[in-house]
Amino acid sequence: MIRILVNDGIHPDGKLLLEEAEYEVVTDKVAQENLIKELPKYDAIIVRSATKVRKELIDACPNLKLIARGGVGLDNIDVEYAVSKGIKVINTPAASSRAVAELAFGHMFTLARLLHSSNRAMPVEGGTNFKTLKSSYSKGFQLMGRTLAVIGFGRIGQEVAKIGLGLGMNVIAVDPYIKEAEIGIQPYGISNMRLAVRMETKPMEEALRKADFVTLHIPFSGGTPILGVEEFEKMKKGSYLINTSRGGTVDELAMLDAISSGKLAGAGLDVFDNEPSPRPEILNHSKISLTPHTGAETQEAQVNIAMELADRIIEFFGTK
Ligand code: 3PG
Repeated sequence: MIRILVNDGIHPDGKLLLEEAEYEVVTDKVAQENLIKELPKYDAIIVRSATKVRKELIDACPNLKLIARGGVGLDNIDVEYAVSKGIKVINTPAASSRAVAELAFGHMFTLARLLHSSNRAMPVEGGTNFKTLKSSYSKGFQLMGRTLAVIGFGRIGQEVAKIGLGLGMNVIAVDPYIKEAEIGIQPYGISNMRLAVRMETKPMEEALRKADFVTLHIPFSGGTPILGVEEFEKMKKGSYLINTSRGGTVDELAMLDAISSGKLAGAGLDVFDNEPSPRPEILNHSKISLTPHTGAETQEAQVNIAMELADRIIEFFGTK
Protein backbone atom coordinates (compact mmCIF):
# COMPACT_ATOMS: atom_id res chain seq x y z
CA MET A 1 0.00 0.00 0.00
CA ILE A 2 1.21 3.51 -0.89
CA ARG A 3 1.73 5.58 2.26
CA ILE A 4 1.41 9.36 2.06
CA LEU A 5 2.24 11.82 4.82
CA VAL A 6 0.25 15.06 4.52
CA ASN A 7 2.24 17.38 6.72
CA ASP A 8 0.67 20.83 6.20
CA GLY A 9 -2.96 19.84 5.69
CA ILE A 10 -5.15 19.08 2.68
CA HIS A 11 -8.82 19.77 1.91
CA PRO A 12 -10.94 16.69 2.82
CA ASP A 13 -12.07 16.25 -0.83
CA GLY A 14 -8.46 15.64 -1.91
CA LYS A 15 -7.84 13.27 0.99
CA LEU A 16 -10.96 11.31 0.07
CA LEU A 17 -9.83 10.92 -3.54
CA LEU A 18 -6.48 9.55 -2.37
CA GLU A 19 -8.18 7.16 0.05
CA GLU A 20 -10.54 5.99 -2.67
CA ALA A 21 -7.43 5.09 -4.67
CA GLU A 22 -6.57 2.89 -1.66
CA TYR A 23 -3.59 4.85 -0.42
CA GLU A 24 -2.94 5.28 3.28
CA VAL A 25 -3.12 9.01 3.99
CA VAL A 26 -1.76 10.24 7.31
CA THR A 27 -2.60 13.85 8.19
CA ASP A 28 -1.07 14.04 11.68
CA LYS A 29 1.55 16.75 11.48
CA VAL A 30 5.10 15.61 12.20
CA ALA A 31 7.33 18.35 13.66
CA GLN A 32 10.12 19.39 11.30
CA GLU A 33 12.83 17.95 13.60
CA ASN A 34 11.09 14.55 13.76
CA LEU A 35 10.60 14.15 10.00
CA ILE A 36 14.03 12.64 9.58
CA LYS A 37 12.84 9.71 11.71
CA GLU A 38 9.24 9.49 10.45
CA LEU A 39 9.37 10.26 6.73
CA PRO A 40 11.39 7.15 5.76
CA LYS A 41 8.17 5.18 6.53
CA TYR A 42 6.35 6.89 3.61
CA ASP A 43 6.33 6.78 -0.19
CA ALA A 44 5.27 10.38 -0.59
CA ILE A 45 4.95 13.62 1.33
CA ILE A 46 2.46 16.41 0.67
CA VAL A 47 3.48 19.84 1.98
CA ARG A 48 2.48 23.49 1.73
CA SER A 49 5.15 26.09 2.52
CA ALA A 50 5.59 25.34 6.23
CA THR A 51 7.43 22.01 5.99
CA LYS A 52 10.96 22.16 4.61
CA VAL A 53 12.18 19.28 2.50
CA ARG A 54 15.92 19.84 2.36
CA LYS A 55 18.86 17.69 1.26
CA GLU A 56 19.45 16.17 4.71
CA LEU A 57 15.85 14.94 4.93
CA ILE A 58 15.90 13.65 1.36
CA ASP A 59 19.10 11.69 2.13
CA ALA A 60 17.37 10.04 5.08
CA CYS A 61 14.50 8.76 2.88
CA PRO A 62 15.85 6.40 0.19
CA ASN A 63 12.32 5.07 -0.47
CA LEU A 64 10.67 8.43 -0.96
CA LYS A 65 9.26 8.64 -4.48
CA LEU A 66 7.25 11.84 -4.55
CA ILE A 67 7.27 15.28 -2.96
CA ALA A 68 4.01 17.10 -3.64
CA ARG A 69 3.71 20.82 -2.90
CA GLY A 70 0.16 22.11 -2.59
CA GLY A 71 0.58 25.63 -3.95
CA VAL A 72 3.07 27.43 -6.12
CA GLY A 73 6.38 28.31 -4.44
CA LEU A 74 8.95 25.53 -4.29
CA ASP A 75 11.46 27.47 -2.21
CA ASN A 76 10.92 25.16 0.80
CA ILE A 77 12.07 22.12 -1.20
CA ASP A 78 15.53 21.27 -2.56
CA VAL A 79 13.98 20.43 -5.91
CA GLU A 80 17.12 19.83 -7.98
CA TYR A 81 18.58 17.58 -5.32
CA ALA A 82 15.38 15.58 -4.98
CA VAL A 83 15.17 15.13 -8.75
CA SER A 84 18.83 14.03 -8.84
CA LYS A 85 17.86 11.28 -6.38
CA GLY A 86 15.06 10.10 -8.66
CA ILE A 87 12.28 11.70 -6.59
CA LYS A 88 9.45 13.36 -8.51
CA VAL A 89 8.50 16.86 -7.33
CA ILE A 90 5.11 18.33 -8.23
CA ASN A 91 3.21 21.50 -7.36
CA THR A 92 -0.12 23.08 -8.33
CA PRO A 93 0.87 26.24 -10.16
CA ALA A 94 -2.59 27.19 -11.45
CA ALA A 95 -4.85 26.26 -8.55
CA SER A 96 -4.45 29.42 -6.48
CA SER A 97 -3.80 32.14 -9.09
CA ARG A 98 -7.20 33.75 -8.70
CA ALA A 99 -7.00 33.68 -4.91
CA VAL A 100 -3.64 35.47 -4.88
CA ALA A 101 -4.72 37.96 -7.54
CA GLU A 102 -7.88 38.88 -5.62
CA LEU A 103 -5.90 39.38 -2.40
CA ALA A 104 -3.54 41.75 -4.24
CA PHE A 105 -6.60 43.83 -5.16
CA GLY A 106 -7.90 43.52 -1.61
CA HIS A 107 -4.76 45.36 -0.53
CA MET A 108 -5.07 47.90 -3.35
CA PHE A 109 -8.66 48.79 -2.48
CA THR A 110 -7.71 48.89 1.20
CA LEU A 111 -4.87 51.33 0.62
CA ALA A 112 -6.84 53.48 -1.84
CA ARG A 113 -9.72 53.94 0.64
CA LEU A 114 -7.61 53.79 3.85
CA LEU A 115 -9.50 50.76 5.17
CA HIS A 116 -6.44 49.47 7.03
CA SER A 117 -6.39 52.66 9.04
CA SER A 118 -10.16 53.21 9.51
CA ASN A 119 -10.58 49.58 10.59
CA ARG A 120 -8.11 50.33 13.38
CA ALA A 121 -9.67 53.70 14.30
CA MET A 122 -13.40 52.89 14.18
CA PRO A 123 -13.52 50.48 17.15
CA VAL A 124 -11.70 53.07 19.28
CA GLU A 125 -13.26 56.36 18.13
CA GLY A 126 -16.16 55.50 15.84
CA GLY A 127 -18.77 56.01 18.57
CA THR A 128 -17.41 59.32 19.88
CA ASN A 129 -15.62 60.94 16.99
CA PHE A 130 -17.50 59.79 13.91
CA LYS A 131 -17.50 63.13 12.08
CA THR A 132 -13.78 63.70 12.56
CA LEU A 133 -13.06 60.18 11.30
CA LYS A 134 -15.36 60.76 8.32
CA SER A 135 -13.34 63.80 7.39
CA SER A 136 -9.97 62.04 7.94
CA TYR A 137 -10.96 59.13 5.71
CA SER A 138 -12.55 61.13 2.94
CA LYS A 139 -9.42 61.52 0.85
CA GLY A 140 -9.37 58.10 -0.78
CA PHE A 141 -9.16 57.51 -4.51
CA GLN A 142 -10.52 55.12 -7.13
CA LEU A 143 -8.48 52.45 -8.90
CA MET A 144 -10.06 53.16 -12.28
CA GLY A 145 -7.65 55.14 -14.43
CA ARG A 146 -4.66 54.42 -12.18
CA THR A 147 -1.53 52.69 -13.48
CA LEU A 148 -0.71 49.22 -12.21
CA ALA A 149 2.73 47.65 -12.75
CA VAL A 150 2.54 43.86 -12.63
CA ILE A 151 6.06 42.54 -12.01
CA GLY A 152 6.09 38.88 -13.05
CA PHE A 153 3.66 38.00 -15.83
CA GLY A 154 3.08 34.29 -15.19
CA ARG A 155 -0.25 32.78 -14.22
CA ILE A 156 -0.82 34.99 -11.17
CA GLY A 157 0.45 38.16 -12.86
CA GLN A 158 -1.87 37.53 -15.81
CA GLU A 159 -4.83 37.01 -13.48
CA VAL A 160 -3.97 40.32 -11.78
CA ALA A 161 -3.78 42.01 -15.19
CA LYS A 162 -7.21 40.60 -16.07
CA ILE A 163 -8.80 42.10 -12.94
CA GLY A 164 -6.92 45.39 -13.42
CA LEU A 165 -8.11 45.71 -17.02
CA GLY A 166 -11.65 44.93 -15.88
CA LEU A 167 -11.42 47.78 -13.35
CA GLY A 168 -10.29 50.21 -16.02
CA MET A 169 -6.68 50.41 -14.84
CA ASN A 170 -3.71 51.09 -17.10
CA VAL A 171 -1.83 47.78 -16.66
CA ILE A 172 1.88 47.57 -17.46
CA ALA A 173 3.36 44.05 -17.28
CA VAL A 174 7.03 43.29 -16.71
CA ASP A 175 8.72 39.91 -17.14
CA PRO A 176 12.25 38.96 -18.21
CA TYR A 177 11.08 35.76 -19.94
CA ILE A 178 7.55 36.44 -21.22
CA LYS A 179 7.27 38.90 -24.13
CA GLU A 180 3.51 38.93 -24.50
CA ALA A 181 0.35 37.17 -23.36
CA GLU A 182 -3.29 37.16 -24.27
CA ILE A 183 -5.51 38.13 -21.37
CA GLY A 184 -9.01 36.73 -21.79
CA ILE A 185 -11.89 38.44 -20.02
CA GLN A 186 -15.07 36.35 -19.74
CA PRO A 187 -18.10 38.27 -18.45
CA TYR A 188 -20.08 36.16 -15.98
CA GLY A 189 -22.99 34.25 -17.49
CA ILE A 190 -22.39 35.45 -21.06
CA SER A 191 -20.91 32.41 -22.77
CA ASN A 192 -21.11 33.75 -26.31
CA MET A 193 -18.91 36.74 -25.64
CA ARG A 194 -15.21 36.81 -24.83
CA LEU A 195 -12.86 39.76 -24.74
CA ALA A 196 -9.16 39.23 -25.24
CA VAL A 197 -6.39 41.75 -24.82
CA ARG A 198 -2.91 41.04 -26.15
CA MET A 199 -0.39 42.59 -23.77
CA GLU A 200 3.30 43.07 -24.44
CA THR A 201 5.61 43.26 -21.47
CA LYS A 202 7.57 46.48 -20.90
CA PRO A 203 10.90 47.34 -19.28
CA MET A 204 10.97 47.45 -15.47
CA GLU A 205 12.21 51.09 -15.46
CA GLU A 206 9.18 52.30 -17.39
CA ALA A 207 6.76 50.39 -15.15
CA LEU A 208 8.33 51.68 -11.93
CA ARG A 209 8.37 55.24 -13.20
CA LYS A 210 4.72 55.28 -14.23
CA ALA A 211 2.91 53.05 -11.74
CA ASP A 212 0.59 54.13 -8.94
CA PHE A 213 0.69 50.52 -7.69
CA VAL A 214 3.55 48.06 -8.15
CA THR A 215 2.52 44.47 -7.47
CA LEU A 216 4.98 41.56 -7.32
CA HIS A 217 4.22 38.09 -8.68
CA ILE A 218 7.63 36.47 -8.88
CA PRO A 219 9.31 33.49 -7.21
CA PHE A 220 12.19 33.92 -4.77
CA SER A 221 14.86 31.40 -4.03
CA GLY A 222 17.53 33.55 -2.47
CA GLY A 223 19.78 36.30 -3.78
CA THR A 224 19.22 40.04 -4.09
CA PRO A 225 15.72 41.47 -3.63
CA ILE A 226 14.12 42.64 -6.87
CA LEU A 227 13.04 45.89 -5.19
CA GLY A 228 15.76 47.68 -3.25
CA VAL A 229 16.97 51.25 -2.68
CA GLU A 230 17.60 51.91 -6.40
CA GLU A 231 14.21 50.61 -7.51
CA PHE A 232 12.33 52.59 -4.85
CA GLU A 233 14.16 55.71 -6.09
CA LYS A 234 12.83 55.06 -9.60
CA MET A 235 9.24 54.68 -8.43
CA LYS A 236 6.67 57.45 -8.75
CA LYS A 237 6.32 59.61 -5.64
CA GLY A 238 3.25 58.62 -3.66
CA SER A 239 2.93 55.16 -5.23
CA TYR A 240 2.11 51.92 -3.40
CA LEU A 241 3.80 48.53 -3.23
CA ILE A 242 1.82 45.28 -3.07
CA ASN A 243 3.66 42.06 -2.25
CA THR A 244 1.78 38.77 -2.24
CA SER A 245 4.70 36.80 -3.71
CA ARG A 246 7.50 35.94 -1.27
CA GLY A 247 9.47 37.47 1.56
CA GLY A 248 12.95 38.33 0.28
CA THR A 249 11.73 39.84 -3.01
CA VAL A 250 11.69 43.26 -1.35
CA ASP A 251 14.41 44.93 0.73
CA GLU A 252 12.14 45.62 3.71
CA LEU A 253 14.41 48.25 5.28
CA ALA A 254 14.60 50.14 1.99
CA MET A 255 10.80 49.90 1.74
CA LEU A 256 10.36 51.33 5.25
CA ASP A 257 12.73 54.20 4.36
CA ALA A 258 10.79 54.83 1.16
CA ILE A 259 7.55 55.08 3.17
CA SER A 260 9.17 57.40 5.73
CA SER A 261 10.48 59.70 3.00
CA GLY A 262 7.05 59.83 1.29
CA LYS A 263 8.35 58.19 -1.87
CA LEU A 264 5.97 55.33 -1.16
CA ALA A 265 2.52 56.24 0.17
CA GLY A 266 2.12 52.77 1.67
CA ALA A 267 2.28 49.04 1.12
CA GLY A 268 0.05 45.99 1.16
CA LEU A 269 1.96 42.95 2.34
CA ASP A 270 1.03 39.27 2.57
CA VAL A 271 4.62 38.00 2.73
CA PHE A 272 7.58 38.96 4.87
CA ASP A 273 11.23 38.34 5.57
CA ASN A 274 11.67 35.92 8.38
CA GLU A 275 8.14 34.41 8.39
CA PRO A 276 6.51 33.53 10.73
CA SER A 277 8.03 36.43 12.71
CA PRO A 278 7.77 39.59 10.60
CA ARG A 279 9.49 42.81 11.69
CA PRO A 280 7.49 44.66 14.40
CA GLU A 281 8.10 47.99 12.54
CA ILE A 282 6.16 46.54 9.65
CA LEU A 283 3.39 44.97 11.75
CA ASN A 284 2.78 48.25 13.58
CA HIS A 285 3.10 50.60 10.62
CA SER A 286 0.05 52.81 10.05
CA LYS A 287 0.63 52.93 6.28
CA ILE A 288 0.89 49.18 5.72
CA SER A 289 -2.06 46.87 5.06
CA LEU A 290 -1.26 43.39 6.39
CA THR A 291 -2.28 39.77 5.88
CA PRO A 292 -0.49 36.68 7.29
CA HIS A 293 0.50 34.93 4.01
CA THR A 294 -3.07 34.03 3.13
CA GLY A 295 -2.81 34.72 -0.60
CA ALA A 296 -3.65 31.15 -1.60
CA GLU A 297 -5.98 30.49 1.34
CA THR A 298 -9.46 30.77 -0.12
CA GLN A 299 -12.07 28.04 0.12
CA GLU A 300 -11.96 27.65 -3.65
CA ALA A 301 -8.17 27.49 -3.86
CA GLN A 302 -7.99 24.90 -1.07
CA VAL A 303 -10.30 22.62 -3.03
CA ASN A 304 -8.51 23.30 -6.33
CA ILE A 305 -5.13 22.57 -4.77
CA ALA A 306 -6.28 19.34 -3.11
CA MET A 307 -8.05 17.99 -6.20
CA GLU A 308 -5.18 18.84 -8.54
CA LEU A 309 -2.67 17.25 -6.17
CA ALA A 310 -4.76 14.11 -5.70
CA ASP A 311 -5.21 13.70 -9.47
CA ARG A 312 -1.50 14.07 -10.10
CA ILE A 313 -0.53 11.72 -7.27
CA ILE A 314 -2.95 9.06 -8.52
CA GLU A 315 -1.55 9.53 -12.05
CA PHE A 316 1.94 8.99 -10.62
CA PHE A 317 1.34 5.95 -8.42
CA GLY A 318 -1.61 4.52 -10.36
CA THR A 319 -4.50 2.55 -8.90
CA LYS A 320 -4.74 -1.14 -8.13
C1 3PG B 1 2.25 29.54 -2.66
O1 3PG B 1 3.44 29.59 -2.95
O2 3PG B 1 1.45 28.74 -3.17
C2 3PG B 1 1.68 30.54 -1.70
O3 3PG B 1 2.63 31.43 -1.24
C3 3PG B 1 0.93 29.88 -0.57
O4 3PG B 1 1.74 29.34 0.40
P1 3PG B 1 1.03 28.37 1.49
O5 3PG B 1 0.98 27.04 0.84
O6 3PG B 1 1.88 28.39 2.69
O7 3PG B 1 -0.32 28.93 1.75
